[in-house]
Amino acid sequence: MNEIVLASRNPNKIQELRELLSLPDLRVLSTTDFPELEEVDEDALTLEGNALKKAHYVAMVTGLPSLADDTGLEVTALNGAPGVFSARYAGEQASYDDNVEKLLSQMEDIEQRNAQFRTVVAFVDADKQWIFEGVCTGQISRYRKGVKGFGYDPIFVPDGFEQSFAEMGSEQKNSISHRGLAMKEAVAFLQKWA
Ligand code: IMP
Repeated sequence: MNEIVLASRNPNKIQELRELLSLPDLRVLSTTDFPELEEVDEDALTLEGNALKKAHYVAMVTGLPSLADDTGLEVTALNGAPGVFSARYAGEQASYDDNVEKLLSQMEDIEQRNAQFRTVVAFVDADKQWIFEGVCTGQISRYRKGVKGFGYDPIFVPDGFEQSFAEMGSEQKNSISHRGLAMKEAVAFLQKWA
C-alpha cells in the first residue's frame, strides 16, 4: 500500500480531496498526522510556486510523497485579482466573509463579472515533481447565495448553472470545480504511479 501526505490542515479541503482520491492502493495521510510539520508561508507569487513549496516541504520532513494544492479566484475585470492572494484579499487575518465582502464592494460598479477559479496541484516524490491544473469559469454574483462550501462559494456561479457553488452539494461541486478537475488529472496520474 502506497502512502501519500496531503499538505493541508484545512478540514474542508482534506475531506474534499479524500473523496476525490479514494483509490484502493493508496493510503492518504494529511499534515495533521505529522505534528512536527510547521506552517508553510504561502508567499510565492504564483499558485504553482506555493503548491510546489508546500509539497516539497512536507515531502522533505515526512520522507513520503506529498501532494499540495493552491487555488486562486481570478476576476477578469480586476486583472486576475485576487488570484494568488485570494486567502488574504481583505488582510492577513481576513475571514472568508471579509474576503467576500471586499470583492463584492470592489465590483459594485462593474458589469463584466467573468471570473475563474484556478487550482494548481503539485505532487512531489523522492525523484521528481509534477504539476496538474484545473480551471472552472463562471460569474461573480451581486449577492451571496447559499450556505454550503467555503471561501468565495456563495458568490461564484459556474458557467452553465444558475446556482452558486454554495447552493450545490459537494458531489456536484467536485464534478465541475477547479479542484475537482485538477485532482482528476492528479488521480489519473496516481493510478499509474501507485
Ligand atoms: P487554497 O489555496 O485552497 O487555500 O485557496 C485560497 C483561497 O481561495 C481560500 O482561502 C478561499 O478563500 C479560496 N478558495 C479556494 N478554493 C475555493 C473553493 O472551492 N471555493 C471558494 N473559495 C475557494
